[in-house]
Amino acid sequence: MCGIIGINSNKSVSASIINSLKKLEYRGYDSAGIATLHAGSINEVKSEGRVDNLEKNSVVQNMVGTIGIGHVRWATHGLPNSINAHPHSSQNVSVVHNGIIENSTLLKKFLVSKGHKFKSQTDTEVIVHLITENLKTENIINSITKTLKSLHGSFALGIIFKDQPDLIIGARRGSPLAVGYGPNENYLGSDSYALKSMTNKITYLSDGEFCVIKKDHVEFFNEDGIKINKKVLELSSEEEKHDKGDYKHFMAKEIEEQPTTLKNGIKEYVDASNNDINIFNFPWKTNEISSITLIGCGTAYHSCMMAKYWFEELTTLNVNVDIASEFRYRKNRFKKDTLYVFVSQSGETADTYAALSLCKSKEMKTCSVVNVIESSIARDSEFVMPIHCGTEIGVASTKAFLGQILILYILALKLGLLRKDLKRELFNKKLKDLKELPDLVQQTLSIDNKIQTISKTFNDAKGSMFLGRGFSYPIALEGALKLKELSYIHAEGYPAGEMKHGPLALIEEGMPVVVLAPRDDYYKKTISNMQEVIARGAKVLLITNKSKDEIISENIWETIEVETTGADLLPFLLTVPLQKLAYYSALKKGYDIDKPRNLAKSVTVE
Ligand code: F6R
Repeated sequence: MCGIIGINSNKSVSASIINSLKKLEYRGYDSAGIATLHAGSINEVKSEGRVDNLEKNSVVQNMVGTIGIGHVRWATHGLPNSINAHPHSSQNVSVVHNGIIENSTLLKKFLVSKGHKFKSQTDTEVIVHLITENLKTENIINSITKTLKSLHGSFALGIIFKDQPDLIIGARRGSPLAVGYGPNENYLGSDSYALKSMTNKITYLSDGEFCVIKKDHVEFFNEDGIKINKKVLELSSEEEKHDKGDYKHFMAKEIEEQPTTLKNGIKEYVDASNNDINIFNFPWKTNEISSITLIGCGTAYHSCMMAKYWFEELTTLNVNVDIASEFRYRKNRFKKDTLYVFVSQSGETADTYAALSLCKSKEMKTCSVVNVIESSIARDSEFVMPIHCGTEIGVASTKAFLGQILILYILALKLGLLRKDLKRELFNKKLKDLKELPDLVQQTLSIDNKIQTISKTFNDAKGSMFLGRGFSYPIALEGALKLKELSYIHAEGYPAGEMKHGPLALIEEGMPVVVLAPRDDYYKKTISNMQEVIARGAKVLLITNKSKDEIISENIWETIEVETTGADLLPFLLTVPLQKLAYYSALKKGYDIDKPRNLAKSVTVE
């Protein structure tokens, strides 16, 4: 979370910094700031809210300086106001920071005892004063080395100095950071995406490293301050265009793009002419893997849960699913014959990345399913399966979710076939269904009118529940997550069979409950559970698939029927109305759909 940009150039940098900050807003949008160095003094401007607010500030519009740093913030320590916004500066030093300094309270005590005065409530300000303190006795490189060693926690830093007209320092531990190379200027950015409009030549810092960025060259150092060499990577120079087209919001556009997401994924992996799946360069033989552990956060975790059902259905592998923030601190039993799969849209989620690093340190087999292929998780995994859904701008994940579950389904199918857990005829049938899926999703997308009316009831309610069994249970969780993050309505996803073990007590007259009951093996059981909530006054929205058989229940408030396909592919179709329900609820409430409150697109703090 939070975004960093730094530019050291021959020309004025403030406009380019503001432009890059706009691109970085997906990382945090509660405040923003910029500092430039001009004529031996650091000028700093900060504002609450979006980068637009910062840009409108007349001081920023007239800001001079050929070297500068900027930041968009997602608050961790201290309120999201202009005082706590970054950069934080002393007389000599200005710092932007992503991450969390865990020993900031202790360090602050020490620094206050040395006479340093603090202005903000942030953990970042200790870094400013610590460097300032160390500069009293050390040169720049030694003061940075010493400061970084004193910090506990995670950070990506951009630092400028009052008396250094040609120098930006970047440092990384835990939070990603990249250096970019331009003509007569060089850059620092919290990811290559921020730098892409300026350069496609990038070096990624590894944990513990820092760099000195001058206008005409960049030097890299390890944690002991010893110079090291790093590779310059050349990324694709194509810049994706991001506009909403005729849509009101990126989320609406991204929901509609899902058939294309699926087509792209199928094109990448399915060999239509040979009725096969190609996963080129998969580094392991099937007999080397007897279990699979899937790890992610939020929506990506729901993708992992979805995949558990498929791996159990299509293979005889043992399957575990874990939330990354739990996995990384548990006493896991690491096993050589386990494939660890990390699922992430951004590829930068701190907890997922830490879980990957942990598995790597134990020399486990690591595979990632990611959207951003230049990301830290993609770079550090042994094997990567890209989602290919294009940039997802809306903070709430939609097309990336369908992209993730598609890739995981394809992996399960292929491993099932290779391990001979899945018969060829059945494999062929499933492949045929898969090829038809994008069109079915396309047809399911045209349910807007009905959903718009339904969403009003959800908006008027105190809370809601999303129920499902089997393949539909992870989708119920995802539907509830979408509704809460966009409409700020309390929503709980639950296995339908669990209601009577407690949550049934929540049901009261008029409470909206979404029941996912496609015509699969769980249908009758789920319908019985649905009756139990209807009997207690719930207003049930039943989501099922089209069928010649009548629905075997009465007193259902509303029904939505999605298209029909094989039971294991129905989750793709069931997801669409839930995404739209969340979208229209938030739209009716007038909320900021692409940037819900308190959230950020890339969660780079733990
Ligand atoms: C919810 C959402 C989040 C992310 C989670 C993981 O709509 O988008 O729950 O899924 O923060 O992010 P990635 O996939 O980037 O690791």
